[in-house]
Amino acid sequence: MNWVKSLDVILKLVKNIITIDGPSGVGKGTLAFSLAERLGWNVLDSGLLYRLIGYLSITEGLETTQEIVQFLNKSKIELITNLDEGLCEIDLNNNTLGIELRNENIASRAAELAKEEEIRNAIIKIQRNAYDPEKGLIADGRDMGTVIFPEAALKVFLQASPEVRAERRANQLKEKGMSVIMHDLLVQIQLRDEEDMNRKISPLKPADDSLVIDTSNLSIKEVEGRVIKNFKKL
Ligand code: C5P
Repeated sequence: MNWVKSLDVILKLVKNIITIDGPSGVGKGTLAFSLAERLGWNVLDSGLLYRLIGYLSITEGLETTQEIVQFLNKSKIELITNLDEGLCEIDLNNNTLGIELRNENIASRAAELAKEEEIRNAIIKIQRNAYDPEKGLIADGRDMGTVIFPEAALKVFLQASPEVRAERRANQLKEKGMSVIMHDLLVQIQLRDEEDMNRKISPLKPADDSLVIDTSNLSIKEVEGRVIKNFKKL
């Protein structure tokens, strides 16, 4: 019995969770929504939760990890999959947040705070609760396959060169009407990747049993095709 099979026995691999991990701008979100639409599943955009934390630390003036964790514990936080718009939003105490979280300054703050173990632990439950066994889940992030859903039968890890990723991210931001300085964006993305890969807790890395795809020269349909092919084999 190879070790993937033995993992199957130990963890009872779950077929209706697909995890997609990888660095920023690699196409995780686009792939997640394309798969969700095809399969009729929900999407967990876990990065949005970390962005929420970055956003709250600024708007609520929360300076310490303890203050942030206290705020999270007393708040109602729910992730909403908006299939029509192809994105997730967050319901924070009955206020919907989305566009406010989607800029690189918030993302950089999120990456700083995502190094803290207490902060990561405070949102594990929200992430795991996003899985409805009746529905199925595409979980997008950095540690979906390694930490949050190790029981997922299909774990995908996407990679692409920093230049390709910065260009894709720039196009996304421009589509949302935001102005972009390409060089600054590339530097910010590379810095964030460094932080995500080198942190002690839940670093960005492929799970041992993941399907690794370099998306640099592939269209979204080609990437989706490879994932579906592997999904069908399960
Ligand atoms: O995916 P997104 O770019 O929105 O994530 C923002 C930041 O949140 C990442 O750079 C990373 O530091 C953090 N993050 C994380 N673990 C996740 C998802 C995001 O640490 N599962």
